[in-house]
Amino acid sequence: MKEIVFQYQMLENASSLSTEDAHLLLMAREATSKAYAPYSQFQVGAVAMLNNGETIEGTNQENASYPVGICAERVLLSAVSSLYSGVAIKTIAISCHNLKGESKNPVSPCGLCRQSLLEQTLRQAQPIKLILSGMEGAIYVLEDAASLLPLSFTANDMK
Ligand code: THU
Repeated sequence: MKEIVFQYQMLENASSLSTEDAHLLLMAREATSKAYAPYSQFQVGAVAMLNNGETIEGTNQENASYPVGICAERVLLSAVSSLYSGVAIKTIAISCHNLKGESKNPVSPCGLCRQSLLEQTLRQAQPIKLILSGMEGAIYVLEDAASLLPLSFTANDMK
């Protein structure tokens, strides 16, 4: 039998985050207001801290034709790749604001976004730290976004 172990930190609030990470989470919470989410009313904000110190934001962008909508994480990854080609992402903070309910629980990237985060991780050969939280409450910290997608499909599988 094989086993895959997955570890993450759960913090009660932002006080034990570094100043940089706490600021990134604050930015992600604020970015939720820039989401275009008229259909789900679920606003997601994702903010990346790059190796060069720049921060980039992404929010979910929905469409009347629902499958056309894009998650905040993939909007963010596309923006980073386009605006700062070749610059690695150090950390991404993600937050959500549910206009129809509670926003106290950490939001976790969907399957498509996990695959995109993995591609970026392999491309930059540097792990991406994830900080996941709602507008308040618990914070999850994952040292490597790739850990969210074990037994994954990558370019190696096509060799
Ligand atoms: N969404 C994100 O942007 N990121 C996530 O991690 C989860 C889901 C968006 C997609 C859609 O616009 C809305 O949230 C509801 O699923």
